[in-house]
Amino acid sequence: MEVHLTPADLRVAMERDVRRGLDSSPKELPPVYFYDDRGSRLFDEITRLPEYYPTRAERAILEQHGRDIARTAGASILVELGAGTCDKSRVILDAMRDEGLLGGFAPLDVSDTTLWEAVSALAVEYPGVAMTAVVGDFHEHLACLPREGVRLFAFLGGTIGNLDPTQRQGFYADLLADMLPGDHLLLGCDLIKDPARLIAAYDDAQGVTAEFNRNVLHVINAELGADFDVDRFIHQARWNAEDHRIEMWLECAEATTVEISDLGLRIEFAAGEAMRTEISTKFDPEDLRRELDASGFAVESSWFSPGDDFLLTLATPK
Ligand code: SAH
Ligand code: TRP
Repeated sequence: MEVHLTPADLRVAMERDVRRGLDSSPKELPPVYFYDDRGSRLFDEITRLPEYYPTRAERAILEQHGRDIARTAGASILVELGAGTCDKSRVILDAMRDEGLLGGFAPLDVSDTTLWEAVSALAVEYPGVAMTAVVGDFHEHLACLPREGVRLFAFLGGTIGNLDPTQRQGFYADLLADMLPGDHLLLGCDLIKDPARLIAAYDDAQGVTAEFNRNVLHVINAELGADFDVDRFIHQARWNAEDHRIEMWLECAEATTVEISDLGLRIEFAAGEAMRTEISTKFDPEDLRRELDASGFAVESSWFSPGDDFLLTLATPK
């Protein structure tokens, strides 16, 4: 496993981001800090909730069209950004193997333990396939990925929707700078649909998503010596119709002062004040195609899930 983001690096970034985010109005926290061990386990639970359709929808596309995707991409190396538990990676790896193409797998994620466990299991399941796990940030460490062979870059789970339009532009540009002719991008996007279904997917009946959202406060308490009273913060999933995105917020029920001792900060929360922790953009297929085109990608194929909930797009540098 190659580590390009050590716990010390992550802490420096967290200090900077938390200071900046809590100083903004409204307050916000960057989503990358959800995913400590506990957060990654909670996310894995989310993917199996009845309300959370994206994982099942994306998996259904991969199961149905995996060989077509593998053949069109013609890649020997699967690179996966934000791979997490690498569950869906297996479907792509199998398709590449069945096409006689599979040579290696290089997942990248910030969550080191989750990545390590996933890759240890995969190394046993796929003997002879070169595994290079990269602990890193997909905003910073794309250049650390293996460069040999024809590569298929998978970015699944609708994680692209967790970036705002400016961040997406930067991400596509970084990716293009690193991609070589013949490489492909396989992008998983959640689509605009009935807001009631969207809200349920991000505010499930069992409260797992609420626990996941609040986990970012546990992380800041543990890492930066903060004293967030986590139970005072209420999980909210709001549909922002103008920007067609779900937004995750944490609302503070009563007026509260939070001390972040490692930053020497005291932060006031008014009663009812909410802070934004995540966005999850939902796409219109035509807008997405235009966005990719304007960013320097040519779309080769795309596949809808049954019921048109989710879209997988295969694109290549123009
Ligand atoms: N691809 C998986 C997981 C999606 S959840 C799926 O489709 O189910 C998002 C994943 O991206 C998590 O594993 C998280 O640890 C990782 N992640 C979030 N922000 C990241 C960043 N800036 N750099 C690298 N990985 C990141
Ligand atoms: N990439 C996932 C998504 O946007 C991340 C996610 C799912 C998430 N549920 C969440 C992020 C709840 C924060 C809170 O669908």
